[in-house]
Amino acid sequence: MSSKRLAPVHRHPAGTNAAADRASAILEIDLGAIQRNWRMLQGKVGKAVQCAAVVKADGYGLGAAPVAKALAAAGCKTFFVATLEEGLALREMLKTAEIAVLNGLLPRTEQEVLRARLIPVLNDLGQLDVWRTLVLPLKQRPTAMLHLDTGLSRLGLSRAETQVLVGEPDRLAGVALRAIMSHLVVAEDPKHAKNAEQRRLFLAARRKLPPAPASLAASSGIFLGSDFHFDLVRAGAALYGINPLTDQLNPMSQVTHLKGKIVQVRDVDRGETVGYGAEHRMDRGGRIATVAVGYADGWFRSSKNRAMAGIAGRQVPIVGRISMDLTTLDVTGIDPALVEVGGFVDLIDAKNPVDIVGARAGTIGYEVLTALGRRYHRVYIGG
Ligand SMILES: Cc1ncc(COP(=O)(O)O)c(C=O)c1O
Repeated sequence: MSSKRLAPVHRHPAGTNAAADRASAILEIDLGAIQRNWRMLQGKVGKAVQCAAVVKADGYGLGAAPVAKALAAAGCKTFFVATLEEGLALREMLKTAEIAVLNGLLPRTEQEVLRARLIPVLNDLGQLDVWRTLVLPLKQRPTAMLHLDTGLSRLGLSRAETQVLVGEPDRLAGVALRAIMSHLVVAEDPKHAKNAEQRRLFLAARRKLPPAPASLAASSGIFLGSDFHFDLVRAGAALYGINPLTDQLNPMSQVTHLKGKIVQVRDVDRGETVGYGAEHRMDRGGRIATVAVGYADGWFRSSKNRAMAGIAGRQVPIVGRISMDLTTLDVTGIDPALVEVGGFVDLIDAKNPVDIVGARAGTIGYEVLTALGRRYHRVYIGG
């Protein structure tokens, strides 16, 4: 939807757009685009490989509940979350889906994991031992995933632990493994030697362990080719429209559209400053539009003087420091009739996608999405 169609909001007939009238900003999330992205990735890996959806951190900030429901409706059967709490919440919504918990089987949570039929990702030998003791007496043995660290040094069995396990295969006896997995460090750079190295380590370890489905690739890894697909891929970022290919056109559909409301428009004389710290000085007389989105909304302060916004189809610079609730735009030269209080400017859309918005703030699209504010009026479309 273009800002032109929405702006200015007060043109809507009274009573038909009350939520938009109240909102300081509208975050539109295209569930249809998320479904398309999942289908595209599933098509890319082919029928023999399963494409799981990573919906941790509240579906990368876009709402785990609506996102997971839309993906389940599109045919996704396996989901990954980071924490037990995320897993429990997702189980309430998806009664039959597979839900794996990446952060592992943590002390005093084992019974809840079992009760909710969650799949723990076992990240060390201690977790494996606890899980085995827990499930051996059970008639219907639940599955777990085994995570081998091949280079991230973050989660998963270290190489030393993997060697111990290879030498003591009984530790896995009776444990049903849904997958043996690892996670790539630099998959967004296909030329990086680390990709092949991690794959080699993963294959070598897997060969010495009991047969189980394997999973190595997340979003970018899917684009490294079929050698990296194994049996299960774990797509997160790409589902949400983040570009899995740095330095190439984004093959994913645009998912998020953030529109900030103009709350004041003013003429500013040459020499006057804009924003805290008097950092931006007008080198000519101009016009400033103040938009009700600030760093408290996850609109990064570090993007000052670099971020852009769309207004009536034109790109205008954000000038001066971003403050807690407000951002100032230089709208000099834009037809005043299109810059009205109550109208909207486009902060995230196809022209300013999350990857670019992130780069301007010195961060990545992942952080832009997961920082998206709670004050936004969220509108889910499609799906
Ligand atoms: C183990 C694991 N698998 C998959 C993913 C999804 O990665 P991406 O969002 O790059 O697709 C993550 C995300 O951090 C992860 O930690």
